Amino acid sequence: MRKETPSKTARKVALNIVTLGSKPGMDGVLPPGVVEATEELLVASGAVGEAGVRFSRSRTAVAIYEAFDWMMPGQFEAFAHRKAFCEHQVREGIGAGASQVLVLGAGYDTLGWRLAPEFPGVGFFEIDHPATARLKAKGIAELGQRDNLHLIQEDLGERGLVEVLTANDSWDRTAASVVVAEGLLMYLPPAAPRDLFGQCAEIAGAGSRIAFTYIGTGIDGRPDAGRWTGLVLWLLKASGEPWLWSMRPKEMAHFLEETGWTNAPDLVGESSRRGVEFLGVGIK
Ligand SMILES: C[S@@+](CC[C@H](N)C(=O)[O-])C[C@H]1O[C@@H](n2cnc3c(N)ncnc32)[C@H](O)[C@@H]1O
Repeated sequence: MRKETPSKTARKVALNIVTLGSKPGMDGVLPPGVVEATEELLVASGAVGEAGVRFSRSRTAVAIYEAFDWMMPGQFEAFAHRKAFCEHQVREGIGAGASQVLVLGAGYDTLGWRLAPEFPGVGFFEIDHPATARLKAKGIAELGQRDNLHLIQEDLGERGLVEVLTANDSWDRTAASVVVAEGLLMYLPPAAPRDLFGQCAEIAGAGSRIAFTYIGTGIDGRPDAGRWTGLVLWLLKASGEPWLWSMRPKEMAHFLEETGWTNAPDLVGESSRRGVEFLGVGIK
């Protein structure tokens, strides 16, 4: 992932959410308020102009995304399910006693900003590359700061999560927490997710959970994007944000055990796969 420029995939996910807001039937899937908040954040941050947001809301944009679904079937709607999954995990985790939420590689995700006023006793933390996090911070400043939302600008490839959060006086590593890694793991170098999950276990107290999405590994050992995997991987590489990590779902329980978590497939919900992505939950 290019470090000096704001993440294009984070922008793409956010625009996808805006377009999904115009797709009939998706309002029953998308978390309430997510489309409006995403539109406002994109414009306020300067990540996308008003015209770009207006176009993303159009029927033409819906038709374009639907037309491109041949490449990764189901992936357009998958973004709505992914957002709903993460928000469900956070709400359920808070309901079970979590007092901290950490969103890794947050991009233009609005979960923390939307939920912070509803849960004033919960600390919401987000970490992203400085290039993306700076734009996000500008947008959040315009939308309205939340006292319990902490935006951290850090490249986790350069500075470990434990070090970053230990230096943050507001983070309590003994507290039950919900960690979210949505659409992040596939972009990390091969050894990084194992290290990251281990560090997440170190900074989270008993009763924590980690909710994440990931790409499965195909029989050829590459990330499996379906029938057009070669083309998809080439396009991602050409865009400067290649998929570097994947895992076979049957290996996930072992991966979680090794990194300090216990696989919790019963917490995932009705489907563990959306589009080409798998959903996972680990508990501690
Ligand atoms: C595909 S975007 C997903 C954004 C968001 N989670 C969502 O789903 O809406 C991946 C995000 O991970 C961030 N990211 C990737 N590598 C990172 C790293 N080493 N440290 C911090 N953030 C990173 C990118 O800047 C980007 O915002």
